[in-house]
Amino acid sequence: MGIRLTDTTLRDAHQSLIATRMRTRDMLDVVAELDKVGFFSLEVWGGATFDASIRFLNEDPWERLRALRERVKHTPLQMLLRGQNLVGYRHYADDVVREFVRLSVKNGISIFRVFDALNDVRNMELAMKVAKEYGAHVQGTICYTISPVHTIEGFVGMAMELERLGCDSICIKDMAGLISPEATTRLVRAIKRRVSIPLDLHSHCSSGMAPLSYHAATLAGADILDTAFSAFSWGTSQPPTESIAAAFKGTKYDSGLDLEALYEIGEYFTALYSKYRGLFTAEATRPNINVLLHQVPGGMLTNLVSQLKEQNALDKLGEVLREVPRVRADLGYPPLVTPTSQVVGIQAVLNVLSGSRYKRVTNEVKDYFLGRYGRPPGRVDEEVKKLVVGDEPIINGRPADSIDPELEKLRESGRKLGILRKEEDLITYALYPQVAMKFLRGEAKEEVIPSLTMNPLSPAEVPELPMEFAVDVDGEVFNVKVSTVASKTIEIGKPEKREKPSRGAVIAHIQGMVVAMKARVGQKVKEGDVLAIIEAMKMQSEVRSPLSGTVRKILAYEGEIVNSGDAVAMVEPEEGM
Ligand code: CO
Repeated sequence: MGIRLTDTTLRDAHQSLIATRMRTRDMLDVVAELDKVGFFSLEVWGGATFDASIRFLNEDPWERLRALRERVKHTPLQMLLRGQNLVGYRHYADDVVREFVRLSVKNGISIFRVFDALNDVRNMELAMKVAKEYGAHVQGTICYTISPVHTIEGFVGMAMELERLGCDSICIKDMAGLISPEATTRLVRAIKRRVSIPLDLHSHCSSGMAPLSYHAATLAGADILDTAFSAFSWGTSQPPTESIAAAFKGTKYDSGLDLEALYEIGEYFTALYSKYRGLFTAEATRPNINVLLHQVPGGMLTNLVSQLKEQNALDKLGEVLREVPRVRADLGYPPLVTPTSQVVGIQAVLNVLSGSRYKRVTNEVKDYFLGRYGRPPGRVDEEVKKLVVGDEPIINGRPADSIDPELEKLRESGRKLGILRKEEDLITYALYPQVAMKFLRGEAKEEVIPSLTMNPLSPAEVPELPMEFAVDVDGEVFNVKVSTVASKTIEIGKPEKREKPSRGAVIAHIQGMVVAMKARVGQKVKEGDVLAIIEAMKMQSEVRSPLSGTVRKILAYEGEIVNSGDAVAMVEPEEGM
């Protein structure tokens, strides 16, 4: 049998290259043609597309799915689902998972690619079971990574367990583009020996090896490869659909796909490329073996760079890059994929910037050590664990077992807010309460595509324009402001906050968004009390009171972006202190 192809142009490709900004209207003109090609599936939904739609495009992701379904009559539509994290960044309660999967099937998803960042199958089971109940195809997914605790035997064992759990196919998800041709051959052979359901290889061209690994996978017996149309391929995206189909033409691995038809569709995407070209960056489009040297995927690297730039600490990049693998080792070698890539990345930044390892930790790192993400692949460092969580009890069971049902409460508050017009709205609200509220109220605006507003684009001019855009960290989108003029930093915080901190100033130690302001004017606080929570790269860290006293001023509001060193509140010391 020939190799089958899953085309990812409408999901992973634009997520990896242009921070998930492809509009639904640009998809609708071509999906009927995509449907005729004979792909194994079209990956069109999930991952970051849900978040990006409501956050940046003012588009309803459910409507996108329905519109695609109406035009695709023959090819299964596929989505990427982060197990119990669905399309968000934390574990949701079981009732949210059930309802999300039900509505996804109802609106058109036929294949669920389900993974967990720690490869902890307990975090995947419920989503897989519900998808099966609704008659969907479940693709159980193994996150591929390289570490002292990840072995071929371990991956094969997971594949066998996924088959036992009723999966219809298996995916090796090489999200960072790490897998070498030789490793591919060994892994694919080993899995095919023990597992009878079809096997898919999903890789990225980040290190440049993916096309070679796809060849190796095909020869070793893989059944499906993930590709994207050439204009949206290479770099941090998948290998090109047209080239991979052409490579096997006339061999026993021939995909049977019509190259003429692929060429025609390729032309459409090439035209579309010029519309979005202002969003493509050199970093995302060329291979970089950094990922093999530091185990820092390309997208994460971009994000670390902008984080450090915001903190005026770009000179610390080398140190941070060395710190990332150390933090990863402390955490028992989680694969670096959403959300663990952010958990590790931001902690590495904190360890370097605070000058002392784990002096400051994010809530997520705490949760990780408490077992709230699941079972780490290897042993965590006991000393670090002690430092981070002290004697707090560790969860050993399935993390979602300790999460209370969420939907009823949300239904009530959503009703009060008047934002629930259709049943899908409740899930949108459950996934991203803050962003969804704005979107569902009709207050969101479609972001402008840079290249459309720039007058005749001369390549020399483009880099001079400071832009606000988002970067992709392994599949997640983060808003960053980037100036390509290295000396120019963009001030986000209010100038008065940058004054010399006085004794009672409650100082933010990292640039990010204030997600909770806990201090109230007149409130009595003790030294060390948590007065605000700041979110950076989706990770939350606490801002504590430097002394005991009374809160006199609040200097930041929830939703505001503050800089490292900004005062978010002022505390007047107690008498006599
Ligand atoms: Co991917």
